[in-house]
Amino acid sequence: MSNFEEQDYTKQLDVSLWIKLFNIIKAYRKELFLLIALMVLLAGADAVFPLMSKYAIDTFIVKGDMGGFALFAAGYMGLVVVQALVIYGFLMNSGNLECKVVHQIRKVGFKKLQELSFSYYDNTPVGWIMSRMTSDAQRIGDVIAWSFTDLIWGPAIIILVAINMFILDAKLAIAAMLVFPLLALASFHFQRIMLKNHREVRKMNSKITGAYNEGINGARTTKTLVREDKNFEEFENLSGGMRKASIKAATVSAIYLPIVISLGSIAVGLVLWQGGGRVRLNLITYGTYSVFIAYAMQIFEPIQQIARVLSEFQSAQASAERTLTLLETEPDIVDSEEIAAIYGDSVNPKPENWPAINGDITFENVSFNYKTGEKVLEDFNLHIQAGEKIALVGETGAGKSTIVNLICRFYEPSSGSILIDGVDYRKRSQIWLQSNLGYVLQSPHLFSGTVADNIRYAKLDATDEEVEAAARTVSAYDFIMELEKGFDTQVGEGGGRLSSGQKQLISFARAIIADPKIFVLDEATSSIDTETERMIQKAVDIVLKGRTSFIVAHRLSTIRSCDRILVISEGRIKESGSHRQLMRRRGEYFNLYTNQFKEEQSNRLLQAEPEKKAL
Ligand SMILES: Nc1ncnc2c1ncn2[C@@H]1O[C@H](COP(=O)(O)OP(=O)(O)OP(=O)(O)O)[C@@H](O)[C@H]1O
Ligand SMILES: [Mg+2]
Repeated sequence: MSNFEEQDYTKQLDVSLWIKLFNIIKAYRKELFLLIALMVLLAGADAVFPLMSKYAIDTFIVKGDMGGFALFAAGYMGLVVVQALVIYGFLMNSGNLECKVVHQIRKVGFKKLQELSFSYYDNTPVGWIMSRMTSDAQRIGDVIAWSFTDLIWGPAIIILVAINMFILDAKLAIAAMLVFPLLALASFHFQRIMLKNHREVRKMNSKITGAYNEGINGARTTKTLVREDKNFEEFENLSGGMRKASIKAATVSAIYLPIVISLGSIAVGLVLWQGGGRVRLNLITYGTYSVFIAYAMQIFEPIQQIARVLSEFQSAQASAERTLTLLETEPDIVDSEEIAAIYGDSVNPKPENWPAINGDITFENVSFNYKTGEKVLEDFNLHIQAGEKIALVGETGAGKSTIVNLICRFYEPSSGSILIDGVDYRKRSQIWLQSNLGYVLQSPHLFSGTVADNIRYAKLDATDEEVEAAARTVSAYDFIMELEKGFDTQVGEGGGRLSSGQKQLISFARAIIADPKIFVLDEATSSIDTETERMIQKAVDIVLKGRTSFIVAHRLSTIRSCDRILVISEGRIKESGSHRQLMRRRGEYFNLYTNQFKEEQSNRLLQAEPEKKAL
């Protein structure tokens, strides 16, 4: 987990990181260039206004010569219009750019998330991914569109103003800019502290959000375990910390602002004092004097802006870094270029080049471990003929799901190989296998949408008739028709409005709609009622026909008709044979079966008991 906690970034500004990000959004370079051009133009207009005043003062007021006033007024108005247009243009452009940047990052991220392998999701909390794609992407968009704007405008106006001042009067320019270094120093210093405090607040904030998340998601568990008091105490500590951090942040801002204002007043004072003298000595005109006063006031803002913006970039750096980490993650399971060239990829599949699949599967000395864990399989060997129905049973954690995950190529063997129709499946593409494969995972996932959408998910061009036929095949048709709107019923987020048995039946329909050659069912451990169980049982029997199939079974009644039952224990095949053979052997399977049978019997008796009494 530690990699995924909100990290502290006291690092310096990392320009190369931002260049990488700008690379991702380079499709929008037109908007970026427009932004730069508009900000330089705006800085130009800002710097010209005081010069206009200078002209007005020196010509119209001091000399009293009103000739050319109309032209001047027209020019002034023109400048006002230009400035207004530039402001309008940049607001539109930056707003636009912000949306586009956020969209682009999310698009690239979404695509990446589809490509990444199962193993990525094993070690990466979903919440972490969500924050990258929501708040971090937003923050990057914000910084690039708005802070970048200020970053261009600030230096542009400082340079223009400084040049103008030096041209008008170098000595007075130096006086006006005397407090500059002090201001810059103070700004950067305080911005740094404020950044740190701000981070503290954000960190607390994200902890509080996390606590809320846990609180909401775990509400049921909390209630059943009577943990409310303890949780509340933890929450109180968090919000207390948040308050302290917020107050600290406010205090620093409260000190910084008066310092800046005082320094600004000192600069203006210096100009008034020195400039006044120079006016009296006739070294400069009244107009020039006014320009300096205006500039001395004007130049303070951009300095603060630059300090603020740089610290914003620095603070958004964490977001940028985390987002880039995600965008640059390479999936563990990739098709080589040669294979992708022949088979195509998920965006551009070339099914015409795909060899037909029979469904003969061989594990050859397969060893496997998850990234984090110890060896789950070691030197595992197994041959399954096309069309064979295999059941995997065994205690929890034995490695049953792992075996079927390997068949589906959600993971690849750490060593050894898996052959399909005699060829290592890594020599063929992932889509080739997956389009010939139907699977119902241990925890079947439904997408929000209608029942029909969910069944059609595996074959988007399936007609309504095909969808219904699939539902009929797995005996799901009747219960679906009993739902409020039949096939058009919304299943809710994650299928939350359906029972787990119903979810399974719908996943069956989804799994077989594309008529796969290989079928994998990782039976849910959760208990379902006998009626649904009977339906699932019936569905399974139908679904398995003519396909190589694997059932990871928890209810052993489901698998009596399988060709071969493998008892898995600690990643090895402990027993193997048909139901009859294994029962006769009186080994592990016999024990499992009779225990479960006894349990069911006693459950049935227990359920029957009250009824008897009632009679
Ligand atoms: N994604 C994962 N990351 C790390 N270790 C895992 C992962 N999935 C499973 N394991 C570990 O691998 C071993 C085999 O797990 P597997 O899920 O294959 O068991 P199973 O036989 O399917 O159990 P169950 O009957 O409970 O579904 C277990 O020790 C488990 O802790
Ligand atoms: Mg499992």
